[in-house]
Amino acid sequence: MSRSSEGTGTAEEVQNFYNQYPYPRPVDDLANYGLLWNDRQRRIADFHLFWPAQPYREDFSILIAGCGTSQAAKYAMRWPEAQVTGIDFSATSLRKTEDLKRKYDLKNLEVQQLAVERAGELGRSFDQIVCTGVLHHLVAPDAGLSALRTVLNPDGAMHLMVYAPYGRTGIYMLQEFCRKLGISASDEAIRDLVAALKLLPPGHPLETVLRVAPDFGNEAELADALLHPQDRAYSVPQFFDFLDRAGLKFGRWTRQAPYSSKCGVIPSLPQADLLAKLTLNELYAAVELFRGTMVRHSAVVYRDETCAELQRIDFSQDGWLDYVPVRIADTVCVLDRLPPGAASVLINRAHTFRDLFLPINATQKRFFDSIDGKRRIEDIVQTTSTPIEQTRDVDLARSFFEQLWWQDQVVFDTSGLRTDIS
Ligand SMILES: C[S@@+](CC[C@H](N)C(=O)[O-])C[C@H]1O[C@@H](n2cnc3c(N)ncnc32)[C@H](O)[C@@H]1O
Repeated sequence: MSRSSEGTGTAEEVQNFYNQYPYPRPVDDLANYGLLWNDRQRRIADFHLFWPAQPYREDFSILIAGCGTSQAAKYAMRWPEAQVTGIDFSATSLRKTEDLKRKYDLKNLEVQQLAVERAGELGRSFDQIVCTGVLHHLVAPDAGLSALRTVLNPDGAMHLMVYAPYGRTGIYMLQEFCRKLGISASDEAIRDLVAALKLLPPGHPLETVLRVAPDFGNEAELADALLHPQDRAYSVPQFFDFLDRAGLKFGRWTRQAPYSSKCGVIPSLPQADLLAKLTLNELYAAVELFRGTMVRHSAVVYRDETCAELQRIDFSQDGWLDYVPVRIADTVCVLDRLPPGAASVLINRAHTFRDLFLPINATQKRFFDSIDGKRRIEDIVQTTSTPIEQTRDVDLARSFFEQLWWQDQVVFDTSGLRTDIS
């Protein structure tokens, strides 16, 4: 695991690497992406994933730190009312982003060649910072994350994604293989690696990754994974320590069902009672070990405890009846081949673990069908139950909506609770 906990490259090597192999593979057509995000419900759910407690708005400022070839352009297209800034130190990636800016006339996008560690030089701060797939490639990730914190507004939110070690074991083995053979990134080396991967023995730890990342065959992905000069990964406890050192507070996983004690097979483990005694952070660390194949951690984080507390979803406190559930866009409600007693099965298509699905009964389906992104949970109980049923249904609703939230079926708009806060 030595390679996964420390990188060996220099910042210059990383910069040269991304100039030669810009990531992701450059795209010149964002039409489908634009169509996908032209859906207001999708945008509302995305907003409340980061800010449950803030009223929905679209005119915020976003920094895409380490934007690569297209991420900043995509965000500018996704949030046309927002001001989007993309920074990256790869000139090749920025040129690709500029091409997209011109092609789609993205007036709300600015890009700048700047290292993440020097984000403070932008001289302004942002409501949202997106830094995905970048920090684990920095020579000094702590300096990079601290620099980002200094340009996050006090009530801003960050989206971080970093590599996770256990699911990437096979990748680190192949990186080591390449290093032992003195292979570094070149077009020929990549071609030969593609050929070698086809001959990988069944059961090799890299096999799972190849299965869940079908486009691993493309050059940018492959070079980024196997021939990167600087790459480390964070287990759950290492990730929390990383946040602590930068003075940031964990909000939630962007998809939290895989980490939860309430989802999939985890509640039926013989050790479920022991898991229930752990703090949330200890639980997430234990579930990461049990699941074994996570390749990344993707989280929402805040600048300080006050902000994290404000955005917290808590069904053990008063107020949950006022939460407005908003459906997450990637979810589907399956109605055929149901298990006994189920009126439907809810699935989030973005989940890769197959045990993550939620069978629901007829009462729960009535609740679920009443979610329209406007009604509070209390309104939903009132409109779907007779007066006699209501007391019982309030209890059912509490556990059901909490379960929907853990299962990544809904986010909540809790801004109605904050009438005393501007
Ligand atoms: C794997 S790509 C991810 C791109 C993008 N965030 C995405 O998710 O599509 C990493 C990007 O971070 C950039 N990068 C790496 N280290 C950097 C640094 N210290 N400062 C600025 N950019 C950096 C690279 O040039 C590359 O474009």
